[in-house]
Amino acid sequence: MEQILDKYTSVALNDVKVWFKAGKTSDFPADGGNCVKYKDKQIAVINFERRGEWYACQNVCPHKLEMVLSRGMIGSAEETPKIACPIHKKTFSLKDGSNLNGEDYKIATYPVKIVENEVLIGFMD
Ligand code: FES
Repeated sequence: MEQILDKYTSVALNDVKVWFKAGKTSDFPADGGNCVKYKDKQIAVINFERRGEWYACQNVCPHKLEMVLSRGMIGSAEETPKIACPIHKKTFSLKDGSNLNGEDYKIATYPVKIVENEVLIGFMD
């Protein structure tokens, strides 16, 4: 079980070595997300249009290891953009992956940039 989560480590902008083309901006619904695959990882890409921001995080929810976060509900907790797992509603910061319910679970997040309508996600390798 842990092995699935071991693949996912948050990446800071300064640590990016590879910008992976995840698709066109039009591939991702406004105020929603889609899942892309990078090597052996499933990544949820979130087009948070209401905030004019993009986020990427692991698609697997750390609670029951369901591959569902790309279908999560997005919102804001004060200034923090957040995503809630569609299954049991555990909620995570899209900025740093921390759990906003005060629980131990957290998720890996990745830098995103948009270049000429391409969505690029930053990875360390
Ligand atoms: S599987 Fe995501 S909150 Fe339970």
